[in-house]
Amino acid sequence: MNYFRGRVIPKFIGSLKNLRYLNLSGSGFGGRVPHELGNLSTLSYLDLNPYRVIRSNTNDGTNVPMYDLHVDRLDWLSGLSSLQYLDMGVVNLNTAADWLLSINMLPSILNLHLSSSQLPNISTSLPHVNLTSLSTLDLSGNRLGPQIPTWVFNNSRLVSLDLGFNDFSYPIPTAMGNLCNLQTLNLQLNHFNGEINKFEESFKGCIKRDLKSLNTLILDNNGLSGGIPSSISHLSQLTSLHLKNNKLSGELPSSMMNCTGLKTLDLGENGFSGKIPKWIGERLSFLKFLILRSNKFHGGLPPHLSLLDELQVLDLSQNNLSGTIPESFGNFSAMRVANMTNVIIYSGGRLSGVESIWVFWKGFLYEYSRTLSLVININLSGNDLHGEIPKEITHLVGLQSLNLSRNRLIGTIPEDINDLQRIESLDLSWNQLSGAIPHSFSYLTFLSHLNLSHNNFSGRIPSSNQLDTINDSSIYMGNPLLCGPPLLNQCPRVPNSQSLFDGDKEAKDELEIQLFFISMGPGFVVGFWVVCGILLFKRSWRVAYYNFFDDMGDRLYVAVARRLAKFKKNKGLQGNRGLPSSTPKHVLHPRALPGHKSSL
Ligand SMILES: *[C@@H]1O[C@H](CO)[C@@H](O)[C@H](O)[C@H]1NC(C)=O
Ligand SMILES: *[C@@H]1O[C@H](CO)[C@@H](O)[C@H](O)[C@H]1NC(C)=O
Ligand SMILES: *[C@@H]1O[C@H](CO)[C@@H](O)[C@H](O)[C@H]1NC(C)=O
Ligand SMILES: *[C@@H]1O[C@H](CO)[C@@H](O)[C@H](O)[C@H]1NC(C)=O
Ligand SMILES: *[C@@H]1O[C@H](CO)[C@@H](O)[C@H](O)[C@H]1NC(C)=O
Ligand SMILES: *[C@@H]1O[C@H](CO)[C@@H](O)[C@H](O)[C@H]1NC(C)=O
Repeated sequence: MNYFRGRVIPKFIGSLKNLRYLNLSGSGFGGRVPHELGNLSTLSYLDLNPYRVIRSNTNDGTNVPMYDLHVDRLDWLSGLSSLQYLDMGVVNLNTAADWLLSINMLPSILNLHLSSSQLPNISTSLPHVNLTSLSTLDLSGNRLGPQIPTWVFNNSRLVSLDLGFNDFSYPIPTAMGNLCNLQTLNLQLNHFNGEINKFEESFKGCIKRDLKSLNTLILDNNGLSGGIPSSISHLSQLTSLHLKNNKLSGELPSSMMNCTGLKTLDLGENGFSGKIPKWIGERLSFLKFLILRSNKFHGGLPPHLSLLDELQVLDLSQNNLSGTIPESFGNFSAMRVANMTNVIIYSGGRLSGVESIWVFWKGFLYEYSRTLSLVININLSGNDLHGEIPKEITHLVGLQSLNLSRNRLIGTIPEDINDLQRIESLDLSWNQLSGAIPHSFSYLTFLSHLNLSHNNFSGRIPSSNQLDTINDSSIYMGNPLLCGPPLLNQCPRVPNSQSLFDGDKEAKDELEIQLFFISMGPGFVVGFWVVCGILLFKRSWRVAYYNFFDDMGDRLYVAVARRLAKFKKNKGLQGNRGLPSSTPKHVLHPRALPGHKSSL
């Protein structure tokens, strides 16, 4: 993680004969990787990955190097006879036609990362496979395909296999059954097709041994069809299941309730149907990210979901869900925490192996990975939900984004909406909500995306610091009874209309001011007579009271007179310029105090 501005890697490193660990990653080197590195026969770890990762929502997963760090050929690698770990991800290997043969010569290699290395396509077979002890193989982002080369399946000790972002197609091959030690399998964004039931068949060799160790399965963005097989329960260690954007259908098998370790369940953009099973809330108690977006789920929202203590992202949008939003949705424990620190967790630059999901954020889909642990988000939009927004939702003080748009919700915005101190994005558009827009919005200092359009809100749009910064009339349109800027619709100028149009809060403030004056009068009368009444009727107290002030007055007079005398004396010494004659009077009227005595 230095910055060498495209300089070439110095050749002298090749003369450090006893070097065992060399990590030049993320350092801004460019040019050709020197062959001299092949002299490091004791090297066991080599990382040249320039780590310029740019992955946007364009979905193509391209990593763009800042400088063209490249390799012309790789035969020099054969000198690294002790090499166990090699990362040449993002290094351009496009002209290294010999890359596979060269790597096949590395007798000790365990971890091989060639992600986004622009690899020339690989022959599906090797004359002689040496590569049999690999535990990590990452060939993601290389446009390889259409067939997974057979030598991949010869590595029966593989723990992590990432072939994502390539052009592989056909059904997932049955040879996968050789890879029974897999913990992470990432095949996302390819063209795999065929029934996911067949996936079970692919692993037939392992099923008896339960494929016990698989914890991460990423098959996003392929063409897989069919339903989730009930044998999914054999994957007892599964923590992360990504099946987004395939052609999967059917109901979720109840055997899935045995996958109790699941933290991420992303089934979005498929054709799943049926009700959202209540065992999700009851059994999958470690779920952090639940994404069922864009499916055909129907029925009510199960109140049991609120049992998910760790849930941070709940995306049930664009289904056919009906009924009301359960009050229990105010109980998601992990969303009731407001004091999260805004640290970006830096996990090494590479995205593979890091959990990532796509969430709607201020109107766009974004991929979150390293900052994922900070995202707190509920999206129930595009369903058929009715009833009121439960006020309990305002207990979710950690919530950053709430999207309830495109439902049939009625009633008003909960009064305590300002409790959602961290909210950045609030979309309530396309409902039938009514009443005034609460003033409390002005306290939501993080709010930067608001949409209240196409409802039945009424009255004056509150003007306040926070709302003034979101000065876009489209967020209020389709509410014929709303008035005031930024809408062109003027508010009627009726006397006393102020409190009426500015909603309850203003009326309440006014009442409070009136109450203040009303209660001040009696307070004054009582206070006055408690003091003066006693002095009037109790002679001994009266005498004591005035004696006290008399005494105090005399003391003050003496003190001031003494000061004055001293002051005059000093002035006289300085040339007797004198003071304006009025000055002492402004300080005090000492004789005036004892005078009170005679007036009573
Ligand atoms: C290191 O390798 C280069 C080329 O690979 C070679 O020409 C050179 O003689 C080697 N140097 C030493 C000290 O072995
Ligand atoms: C590699 O796998 C193929 C088929 O998957 C098999 O025929 C071959 O014997 C294997 N070779 C080694 C060295 O394991
Ligand atoms: C949505 O669910 C209702 C019943 O709740 C059903 O009548 C309707 O056909 C469903 N719509 C779609 C698009 O599936
Ligand atoms: C809310 O969800 C709808 C889709 O259901 C989407 O069109 C809209 O952009 C989302 N709003 C925000 C603020 O993300
Ligand atoms: C909108 O709200 C007003 C009262 O503020 C009510 O009279 C009217 O019927 C509502 N319109 C719709 C379409 O719900
Ligand atoms: C608010 O929602 C409406 C309707 O969905 C949309 O036309 C408008 O562009 C949105 N405004 C903003 C600022 O996102």
